[in-house]
Amino acid sequence: MEVLLFENREELGKAAAKLIGQLVRKNPKLVIGLITGETPLTCYRELVRMHREEGLDFSQVVTFALDEYLGLPPFHPLTCRSQLTEALLKHLNAKQENLHFLDCGSPDLDRACEDYEREIREAGGIDLQLLGIGTNGHLGLNEPGSPFDSRTRVVELSEETKRYLSRYFGSQVPQRGMTMGLGTIMEARRILLLAHGSAKAEIVAKALKGPITERVPASILQRHPACTVMLDKEAASRLSP
Ligand code: F6R
Repeated sequence: MEVLLFENREELGKAAAKLIGQLVRKNPKLVIGLITGETPLTCYRELVRMHREEGLDFSQVVTFALDEYLGLPPFHPLTCRSQLTEALLKHLNAKQENLHFLDCGSPDLDRACEDYEREIREAGGIDLQLLGIGTNGHLGLNEPGSPFDSRTRVVELSEETKRYLSRYFGSQVPQRGMTMGLGTIMEARRILLLAHGSAKAEIVAKALKGPITERVPASILQRHPACTVMLDKEAASRLSP
């Protein structure tokens, strides 16, 4: 694991965007797994700037959203699809047909999950998977106890995740979601995990330095051959030297 430290979330976001920009320039058809939430916002802002001011070209880039909430109406502003569209995708020149989202409106959700796995395979696999980490160690919506070999599937959200999400959803917090599995995530050729803020310090230390256990889903990243972790000082504060 390569661990890189930054002064604050702005610097971290810029560094993450710079790395993504380099990979896109090297391979204009890069297949990227994208996340939502608070963590990637400074990175996405910088990517939009690089597209506008430096001509970073996304016209052939392919994206797959990591997860999605179940039970929300299709155009709800807090679906992962809406969040990604607003924060990033609508500002780039990526082609609609290259943007993949989990289909929570499908009458057959298990089938939709299998289809997603097939779409990832048909795209040649994920070149770069972006990740954030929940305070309980979740990756995507793979909550503690998720099997390391899990695939894209429907999951129940943990109480901790629902508590965290209630700041956005109020009393209408989703109970279930769809997420790429830990096995799916680990097949990405390269992983970039981002974390900022003191609330993540303890779980970052457990995930990076603690035992590899399904109780801390992110600990599986210790086994990935090409995982870069970008942290701000606060998120890194519990890592022993
Ligand atoms: C979102 C996702 C989640 C978040 C994690 C951290 O697509 O995959 O695992 O990355 O919950 O959320 P924030 O960034 O809001 O702290």
